[in-house]
Amino acid sequence: MAGFPAGFHWGVATASYQIEGAVSEDGRAPSIWDTFAHTPGKVRDGDTGDVADDHYHRWREDVELIAGLGVDLYRFSLAWPRLQPSGRGALNQTGVDFYSRLVDALLERGVQPWVTLYHWDLPQALQDAGGWPERDTAKRFAEYAALVHERLCDRVGVWTTLNEPWCSAFLGHAHGRHAPGIQDDEAALRAAHHLLLGHGMAVRAMRERAPAGRFGLTLNLTPTDPASDDPADVDAARRIDALANRLFLDPVLLGRYPDDVPPLPVQDGDPAIIAQPLDVLGVNYYFRQLARAGGASNGRPSPWVGSRDVEFVSRGLPQTEMGWEIDAQGLYDVLGRVHRDYPAIPLYVTENGAAFADEVSADGSVADPARVAYLDGHLRAARRAIADGVDLRGYFVWTLMDNFEWGHGYSKRFGLFHVDFETLQRTPKDSARWFADVTRRNGPG
Ligand code: FCB
Repeated sequence: MAGFPAGFHWGVATASYQIEGAVSEDGRAPSIWDTFAHTPGKVRDGDTGDVADDHYHRWREDVELIAGLGVDLYRFSLAWPRLQPSGRGALNQTGVDFYSRLVDALLERGVQPWVTLYHWDLPQALQDAGGWPERDTAKRFAEYAALVHERLCDRVGVWTTLNEPWCSAFLGHAHGRHAPGIQDDEAALRAAHHLLLGHGMAVRAMRERAPAGRFGLTLNLTPTDPASDDPADVDAARRIDALANRLFLDPVLLGRYPDDVPPLPVQDGDPAIIAQPLDVLGVNYYFRQLARAGGASNGRPSPWVGSRDVEFVSRGLPQTEMGWEIDAQGLYDVLGRVHRDYPAIPLYVTENGAAFADEVSADGSVADPARVAYLDGHLRAARRAIADGVDLRGYFVWTLMDNFEWGHGYSKRFGLFHVDFETLQRTPKDSARWFADVTRRNGPG
């Protein structure tokens, strides 16, 4: 297959709480994920991010792993509770120093840092004041963003605000299976709006100070199709699509919420703030879903506020360890949809990857052919999207190394590098070698 366009960017992605550990060192205060993980019954096997991959101490080694992949971008998130422990006021200098050294080391190895300001680790102090359901949290986020940006914008070119606000709002506040573990539909909708407002306020604040940067955000987009032509199924898919995708895409890229989402606490002027012009849109893609009307929710927790009568139908396709059906065509479709339905904006796949039960064999190798096949298939789908006119500029594998996979603890391995959680040793999987070939050849063979 032909390579990707010249100048296409290759990267790997991580997130602070999933890899850093060192949760009470050097002035870092607890985040909502520390609290949640330490609450019995919330995370599988009682796992926490206390140590995670110990990246906070092993970052030099990790920068070498990243550089060895031949990528030119590294997407990582800043831990708000490390940088601004109480969620307000002056920054913690030790936290700034940590990220500043990381950025310098990346640049020395020819890797451009790509920052996510918020990958779910809200300072617990802000949760105690109400968290994302409170409008003030959006203002706090913009303040934090501006302060950190001021310190690192001389070396970090791309600033993305939120990672997957759908998860923060609906898994965190309606379903309750993510921190802060709330089950309150109105709180979830308030959180969704305030996350988007915080995004807009943060972009505005950063750009005011340093217009040269590139700004954006990352959405998890989930193609949602009806399970049949039955009008009830078509309607079910539309409602889920509204909550999963358009609730976020429309206000950010079109300047208004869709008509078919539940009421949100929008104040005058909010839509204009949310619709700040963006330089990049990050798309995270893992799976697609088929919606069918009429499923009984059985009172089970669900993120689908107002649409709990919808059930999701398996197509019997092979699945990853997450139980997610593998469907590379979904990536092609979702990129095409953004390209078609929204104003032009450079796109990046900021996450794509798969969990499998990888093991280190006696000779020290880790054979993960299923991951290689997964990534290869999705790259081919991305390449086709570009050939068909989509302005896709780069692709990040989720993730550099096995890590704390939220409610699943350490039981799901997404990494290109295997991590032994006893010794913290990193071992390249076959997929790491394969991906290094991809970046060298600018595409899969
Ligand atoms: C995404 C998250 C990321 C990781 C992958 C598997 O939803 O952004 O942190 O957990 O899923």
